[in-house]
Amino acid sequence: MKKPGQVLVDAARRAREQARAKYSRFKVGSALLCSDGRVFTGCNIESSSYGLTICSERVALFKALSEGASSFSRIVVVADTDELTSPCGACRQLLWDFCGDIEIVLTNLAGKSKTAHLAQLFPEPFGDHLFH
Ligand code: THU
Repeated sequence: MKKPGQVLVDAARRAREQARAKYSRFKVGSALLCSDGRVFTGCNIESSSYGLTICSERVALFKALSEGASSFSRIVVVADTDELTSPCGACRQLLWDFCGDIEIVLTNLAGKSKTAHLAQLFPEPFGDHLFH
Protein backbone atom coordinates (compact mmCIF):
# COMPACT_ATOMS: atom_id res chain seq x y z
CA MET A 1 0.00 0.00 0.00
CA LYS A 2 1.19 3.50 -0.82
CA LYS A 3 1.46 6.06 1.97
CA PRO A 4 -1.33 8.67 1.95
CA GLY A 5 -0.15 11.55 -0.19
CA GLN A 6 2.27 9.36 -2.15
CA VAL A 7 -0.02 9.30 -5.17
CA LEU A 8 0.29 13.08 -5.44
CA VAL A 9 4.06 12.99 -4.91
CA ASP A 10 4.42 10.34 -7.62
CA ALA A 11 2.29 12.42 -10.00
CA ALA A 12 4.50 15.47 -9.37
CA ARG A 13 7.65 13.41 -9.98
CA ARG A 14 6.30 12.08 -13.26
CA ALA A 15 5.32 15.59 -14.33
CA ARG A 16 8.82 16.84 -13.50
CA GLU A 17 10.21 14.47 -16.10
CA GLN A 18 8.33 16.45 -18.76
CA ALA A 19 10.04 19.73 -17.81
CA ARG A 20 11.36 21.74 -20.73
CA ALA A 21 14.29 23.26 -18.88
CA LYS A 22 17.08 23.43 -21.47
CA TYR A 23 18.33 26.81 -20.23
CA SER A 24 18.38 26.36 -16.46
CA ARG A 25 18.50 22.54 -16.44
CA PHE A 26 16.40 22.92 -13.29
CA LYS A 27 13.40 20.61 -13.54
CA VAL A 28 10.37 21.12 -11.33
CA GLY A 29 7.13 19.14 -11.13
CA SER A 30 3.84 19.90 -9.42
CA ALA A 31 0.63 18.08 -8.68
CA LEU A 32 -2.44 20.01 -7.60
CA LEU A 33 -5.23 18.19 -5.79
CA CYS A 34 -8.75 19.53 -6.28
CA SER A 35 -11.50 19.20 -3.70
CA ASP A 36 -13.40 16.99 -6.14
CA GLY A 37 -10.47 14.55 -6.21
CA ARG A 38 -9.06 15.49 -9.58
CA VAL A 39 -5.31 15.96 -9.89
CA PHE A 40 -3.66 18.35 -12.34
CA THR A 41 0.06 18.21 -12.91
CA GLY A 42 2.54 20.72 -14.24
CA CYS A 43 6.20 21.09 -15.13
CA ASN A 44 8.26 24.17 -15.86
CA ILE A 45 8.48 25.23 -19.49
CA GLU A 46 11.29 27.56 -20.52
CA SER A 47 11.48 29.83 -23.55
CA SER A 48 14.48 31.07 -25.53
CA SER A 49 13.03 34.44 -24.55
CA TYR A 50 13.70 33.69 -20.89
CA GLY A 51 11.01 35.92 -19.43
CA LEU A 52 8.30 33.82 -21.05
CA THR A 53 9.23 30.84 -18.89
CA ILE A 54 6.43 29.45 -16.77
CA CYS A 55 6.84 27.57 -13.50
CA SER A 56 5.44 24.11 -12.86
CA GLU A 57 3.01 25.40 -10.24
CA ARG A 58 1.37 27.82 -12.65
CA VAL A 59 1.12 25.19 -15.39
CA ALA A 60 -0.72 22.89 -12.96
CA LEU A 61 -2.94 25.72 -11.74
CA PHE A 62 -3.83 26.98 -15.22
CA LYS A 63 -4.56 23.47 -16.45
CA ALA A 64 -6.90 22.99 -13.49
CA LEU A 65 -8.66 26.33 -13.91
CA SER A 66 -9.08 25.79 -17.64
CA GLU A 67 -10.78 22.48 -16.90
CA GLY A 68 -13.27 24.11 -14.55
CA ALA A 69 -11.70 23.24 -11.20
CA SER A 70 -12.46 25.86 -8.59
CA SER A 71 -11.56 24.44 -5.19
CA PHE A 72 -8.18 23.07 -4.20
CA SER A 73 -6.74 21.37 -1.15
CA ARG A 74 -3.06 20.63 -1.72
CA ILE A 75 -0.15 21.13 -4.09
CA VAL A 76 3.02 19.05 -4.16
CA VAL A 77 6.18 20.60 -5.62
CA VAL A 78 9.21 18.45 -6.39
CA ALA A 79 12.73 19.37 -7.49
CA ASP A 80 16.16 17.80 -7.17
CA THR A 81 17.52 20.07 -4.43
CA ASP A 82 18.74 19.33 -0.90
CA GLU A 83 17.19 22.55 0.34
CA LEU A 84 13.57 22.08 -0.64
CA THR A 85 12.37 24.15 -3.58
CA SER A 86 9.58 26.53 -2.69
CA PRO A 87 7.22 28.34 -5.09
CA CYS A 88 8.44 31.69 -6.43
CA GLY A 89 6.68 34.93 -5.54
CA ALA A 90 4.58 35.05 -8.70
CA CYS A 91 3.30 31.51 -8.11
CA ARG A 92 2.55 32.29 -4.47
CA GLN A 93 0.39 35.21 -5.58
CA LEU A 94 -1.53 33.15 -8.13
CA LEU A 95 -1.97 30.24 -5.72
CA TRP A 96 -3.30 32.69 -3.15
CA ASP A 97 -5.69 34.25 -5.66
CA PHE A 98 -7.18 30.94 -6.80
CA CYS A 99 -6.50 28.43 -4.03
CA GLY A 100 -6.43 30.51 -0.84
CA ASP A 101 -4.61 29.02 2.13
CA ILE A 102 -3.81 25.73 0.40
CA GLU A 103 -1.50 23.09 1.86
CA ILE A 104 1.88 23.07 0.16
CA VAL A 105 4.10 19.99 0.23
CA LEU A 106 7.70 20.64 -0.78
CA THR A 107 9.69 17.57 -1.60
CA ASN A 108 12.86 16.39 -3.32
CA LEU A 109 13.93 13.29 -5.20
CA ALA A 110 15.52 11.83 -2.06
CA GLY A 111 12.12 11.81 -0.38
CA LYS A 112 12.72 14.68 2.03
CA SER A 113 9.57 16.74 2.47
CA LYS A 114 8.03 19.57 4.41
CA THR A 115 4.43 20.71 4.60
CA ALA A 116 3.28 24.27 5.14
CA HIS A 117 0.22 26.35 4.43
CA LEU A 118 0.43 29.11 1.86
CA ALA A 119 -0.34 31.76 4.48
CA GLN A 120 2.94 30.82 6.18
CA LEU A 121 4.92 31.17 2.95
CA PHE A 122 3.02 34.25 1.79
CA PRO A 123 2.17 36.45 4.79
CA GLU A 124 0.28 39.74 4.44
CA PRO A 125 -0.79 38.97 0.87
CA PHE A 126 -2.16 41.34 -1.70
CA GLY A 127 -5.62 40.15 -2.76
CA ASP A 128 -8.99 41.22 -4.04
CA HIS A 129 -10.26 41.68 -0.49
CA LEU A 130 -8.46 45.04 -0.71
CA PHE A 131 -10.60 46.39 -3.53
CA HIS A 132 -13.80 44.35 -3.51
N1 THU B 1 10.71 27.05 -11.25
C1 THU B 1 9.55 26.35 -11.08
O1 THU B 1 9.03 25.75 -12.02
N2 THU B 1 8.98 26.36 -9.85
C2 THU B 1 9.54 26.88 -8.73
O2 THU B 1 8.99 26.76 -7.66
C3 THU B 1 10.82 27.59 -8.84
C4 THU B 1 11.33 27.82 -10.22
C5 THU B 1 11.38 26.97 -12.56
C6 THU B 1 11.36 28.19 -13.41
C7 THU B 1 12.58 27.98 -14.29
O3 THU B 1 12.21 27.17 -15.40
C8 THU B 1 13.52 27.18 -13.42
O4 THU B 1 12.75 26.66 -12.37
C9 THU B 1 14.68 27.96 -12.85
O5 THU B 1 14.23 29.15 -12.27
